[in-house]
Amino acid sequence: MTGFGDCQYEGFGFDVEFWRLRLYNLHRDQRKLSQAYFQEGVALMKNRIRAFLDDRLPLKGVEDHIKKPVPKYINWLFSLGSMAAFLLILQAVTGAFLAFYYSPSPDHAYNAVNYISKEVAFGGFVRGLHHWGASVMVIVVFLHLLRVVVYASYKPPRELTWVTGVLMLLIVLGFGFTGYLLPWDQKAYWATVVGVKIAGTAPVMGDFVAKVLRGGDEVGTVTLTRFYALHTIWLPWLAFGLVGIHLFFVRYYGSAGTHRNTPEDMRAGKPFYPDQLFEDAVAILILFVILAAMAIFVPVPLEELADPTDASYDPRPEWYFLFLFQLLKYFEGPLEVVGTFVIPTVGFILLLFLPFLDKRDRAALWKRPVALTVTCLSVALIVLLTVLGATSPRLEPAPEEPAATEQTAPSQDEAQEEAVFDFGLD
Ligand code: HEM
Repeated sequence: MTGFGDCQYEGFGFDVEFWRLRLYNLHRDQRKLSQAYFQEGVALMKNRIRAFLDDRLPLKGVEDHIKKPVPKYINWLFSLGSMAAFLLILQAVTGAFLAFYYSPSPDHAYNAVNYISKEVAFGGFVRGLHHWGASVMVIVVFLHLLRVVVYASYKPPRELTWVTGVLMLLIVLGFGFTGYLLPWDQKAYWATVVGVKIAGTAPVMGDFVAKVLRGGDEVGTVTLTRFYALHTIWLPWLAFGLVGIHLFFVRYYGSAGTHRNTPEDMRAGKPFYPDQLFEDAVAILILFVILAAMAIFVPVPLEELADPTDASYDPRPEWYFLFLFQLLKYFEGPLEVVGTFVIPTVGFILLLFLPFLDKRDRAALWKRPVALTVTCLSVALIVLLTVLGATSPRLEPAPEEPAATEQTAPSQDEAQEEAVFDFGLD
C-alpha cells in the first residue's frame, strides 16, 4: 500500500503535496484566526465587565491604593501582621469544619472530639491545625506586637491602629480561654473552673462576670453552651470586625517602616501589590508548612472525660496563660486580688495606652533607653513566669481517707473550691 503522498493521480495534474500544504496552511490560518477572535472576544468581555464595574464601584481607586509603594526599608518582620491575619482565617475555616461534628453538651462533647480525632477523614489533621494554630497565633501576634514596639510604629498618627491591635490580642486570648473547655476532658473542665473563679475575684463586677460565664453557680451544661457561643459566634464577629478596622488604619496611614526611612524613602519602596504581597505570601506558606507538620506529627492531647467530683485533679491552663497562673502563687489571702486582678488590669491599661504615654520622637528601640528597659523586663518576666509555671510539679492526688473515719465526701462545690485555691505551693 502506498502513502497518500505517492498518489497515482499526480499524472492528471493533481499535485497532492501542493494541496496537502494548502489545506494545512488553511487549517492553521483558521486556527490562528479563531484563536485571535477568541482572545479579542475575551478582551472585549473583560473591558465591558471592567467598564460596568468601574461605573458602579471605585475600582480604580482601590487599584491605585494597593499598588502604592511601601517604605524603602522594611524587612520580613513586617509580614507578621499578614501571618496573623492568615491564622485568623485558618482558625475560622478549620473551626467551621470541626463544628460539623462537635456537639456542645457534656454528654456528647468529649466523644465528638474523640470521634473527630480518630474516625473522621482528615479529622485529626484539621483538629491539629486548629489546636496548634491557636498556639502559633498567640506567638505570631505577640511577635507582631514586639516588632511594632521595636520600630516604634505605634507613634502618631498610628495610635488607633495600636489600640485596635491590643483589643485583638485580648480577643485572641479569649479564643484560647473559651476553646480550652470545648473538649470537656479533665484539664478543660478544671482549668475553666479555676479561670472563672479568678475572673470572679475582680472587685465590683467579678461575681457577676463569673456567674454570666458559668450560667449558674457551677461549671456545667450552660457553661459549655456559653463558651461554645462565645468561641464560635461572639468572638469571631468581634475579631473580624476589629481586624477590618485595624487593616483599614494600616492601609490608611501606610506602613511606618523602620526608623531608617527618610520622608523620601517612605514613597520610594516597592509597590505593595504585587511585590510586598508576594513576600507576605511566601512567609505565610512557610508558616503553613510548619503548622501542617505539627498537625501531622504532634498529637493533640485529650485527657480523661471531665469528672467534676475529682477534687484531686491539679488544674493547669493553656501555656500562654501560665505566666498569669504562676503570678497568683505569690499573692495569698487578702492580697490574692493583686495577682488575679490588679497587676493584669494595670498591665493591660498601660499596654493599651502606650502610644499616649510614650511621647518621645520615633527612633530605634536601642536609642530609647526607657522603652528598651521596660520591654526587655516585661518579656523576661513573662518568659520566666511561664517557665516556672510549666515546670512546677503537679500535685499528687490526695490519699484515700481510711474507711473507719466517718467523713462525708466533699460536695462538688467544696471540691472545686479546694482545687481552685490550691496552686500546688506545698
Ligand atoms: C489578630 C491580630 C492582628 C492582626 C491580624 C494584625 C494585622 C496587621 C497587619 C496585616 C498589619 C500590616 C503589616 C505589618 O505591619 O505587619 C498590621 C500593622 C500594625 N499592627 Fe497589627 N495585627 C494584629 C494584632 C496587633 C496587635 C496585638 C498590635 C499591638 C498591640 C498591633 C498593632 C499594629 C500596628 C501599630 C500596626 C502598624 C504598623 C506600621 O504601620 O508599621 N496589631 N497589623
